[in-house]
Amino acid sequence: LSDAEPLRQRALATLTRLPPFSPILSRLMDSLAGEEVSFLVLGELIEKDTVIAANILRMVNSAIYARRGAVSSVRHALAVLGVERVRNTVLALSISRMLHSVKTPPGWSMERFNRHGAAAAILSDLLASRLRAEYPEGAFVAGLLHDMGRLLIAMALPDRHQMVAAHHRETGRSWFECEREILGFDHAGLSAAALEQWNLPQPIRDAVGDHHAARPAPPGEPVPLALVLQTADAYVNSLGHSILPAAPGPDRELGVFAPLPLEPDALSSLTARFHAEWSAVAHYYQ
Ligand SMILES: [Fe+2]
Ligand SMILES: [Fe+2]
Repeated sequence: LSDAEPLRQRALATLTRLPPFSPILSRLMDSLAGEEVSFLVLGELIEKDTVIAANILRMVNSAIYARRGAVSSVRHALAVLGVERVRNTVLALSISRMLHSVKTPPGWSMERFNRHGAAAAILSDLLASRLRAEYPEGAFVAGLLHDMGRLLIAMALPDRHQMVAAHHRETGRSWFECEREILGFDHAGLSAAALEQWNLPQPIRDAVGDHHAARPAPPGEPVPLALVLQTADAYVNSLGHSILPAAPGPDRELGVFAPLPLEPDALSSLTARFHAEWSAVAHYYQ
């Protein structure tokens, strides 16, 4: 596949065709590159964005946080939820909103794509915080953006994208393998290259690049972030939150968690928590 590299470059260059980051999104992306974002700064940014503010208030007042009185200010929501969780949620809402205005490539549902990334982000973050995982602070963003390469390929190379889809249907091989066969490269590596252009930290880029080829968890060592992503990806797909419509697996396919060192009790509390957190934000991704 001699044209693989030019095709890959064309797909990567499509990153510049995405809409500009909103002020809050560019500030939060900078914060991922290592700049701190304080409680006060985050509060001010959210207050200037009425859509984001309304959604943060809706989230904090949802059943899962079991507040007795309603929370009506952004500062109060920040105090209840914490800077980290609010920042992650705002990132997911902002990325989703930005992508929503992109002209949809043929055969593509941006709703599905946003839902897949947001659900994978929430589950990756939960897994990373409950396991001893590598770079747990990057798990949410890695989950959110792990499939950016899929979008870039669909936008830049719509005909090839259809060929990958047809090959996938006909052979039953994984989407990842079909990309390698048809394009000569795959979306995981492309996602990692996109995150490099966005200056995201190396451990996040590495995990995203390996999310279809994760190493097993070495006994007694931290769980590779790529394995966290791969597991979260498989579980949200089994729930039907996949990029392309596919029949959901038998509801809640717990077998996908087998590669992770999780006791059955820990697993059931983790999936319950995931479903509760997801239901607090899912309305945004319908
Ligand atoms: Fe993927
Ligand atoms: Fe995925």
